[in-house]
Amino acid sequence: MTHAIEIKDLHKHFGQNEVLRGIDLTVDTGQVVCVIGPSGSGKSTLLRCVNLLEQPTRGTVRVRGVEVTDPDVDLDAVRRHIGMVFQQFNLFPHMTALQNVMIAQQRVLKRGRREAEVVARDNLEKVGVSAKCDAFPAQLSGGQQQRVAIARALAMNPDLMLFDEPTSALDPELVGDVLAVMRKLAEEGMTMLVVTHEMGFARQVADRVVFMDGGGVVEDGPPDQVIGDPQHERTRAFLHRVLHPEG
Ligand SMILES: Nc1ncnc2c1ncn2[C@@H]1O[C@H](COP(=O)(O)OP(=O)(O)OP(=O)(O)O)[C@@H](O)[C@H]1O
Ligand SMILES: [Mg+2]
Repeated sequence: MTHAIEIKDLHKHFGQNEVLRGIDLTVDTGQVVCVIGPSGSGKSTLLRCVNLLEQPTRGTVRVRGVEVTDPDVDLDAVRRHIGMVFQQFNLFPHMTALQNVMIAQQRVLKRGRREAEVVARDNLEKVGVSAKCDAFPAQLSGGQQQRVAIARALAMNPDLMLFDEPTSALDPELVGDVLAVMRKLAEEGMTMLVVTHEMGFARQVADRVVFMDGGGVVEDGPPDQVIGDPQHERTRAFLHRVLHPEG
């Protein structure tokens, strides 16, 4: 069977700094896998290696069977099928929400204006911000901006979605709206690789939770196991810090 994502012995160095030290990870179609772990453990780098925002030093990454680490791969074709949502929403400040969701469809997929607009409105509706189509990013709350960013990714009809701490920059009261959109996506069967510290979301939505530390995978299993009954001391210590930040 072809995995949605298959990562084998992935290494990434920045100079002398070995940030990923041999990662093996698979995500199957329709699965939601949450990646947790301390700051600097390599979570963002791992995600960025999947769509080649970073070039791996060694190892292979396959997306739906296509080896993206093959030097001859058509990068644009690979990226077109992968949606990515960042902690910082990265919307174009001088464009409205609607224009933000239309632009890549027109530029990359060569959709006509009318089609791009229909798709954009559908997706803005889906994430619950259709009333804000004509607003500029600065006129939106962080949660609304992040939902526009999700709509923008979805408008490209991705086969899978990468989320890098999509709620970390949000005020606490806005986190729930974004997680609700992600939960709905998961229920619809979207394949998702999600870096998050939202343990409630990971427990309820993830098929698997992966705990990373020091550039390696320490534990990989169902949420009830990795979060509920961690086998490694490092996982226990990390979870304790996240779940009891006051110490
Ligand atoms: N472009 C880069 N150039 C040099 N070093 C980098 C680069 N990107 C990341 N690093 C280093 O790689 C290590 C892992 O960074 P990464 O951002 O992947 O960690 P993370 O687990 O996502 O952390 P956080 O939870 O803080 O987001 C860090 O030591 C970081 O300084
Ligand atoms: Mg990160």
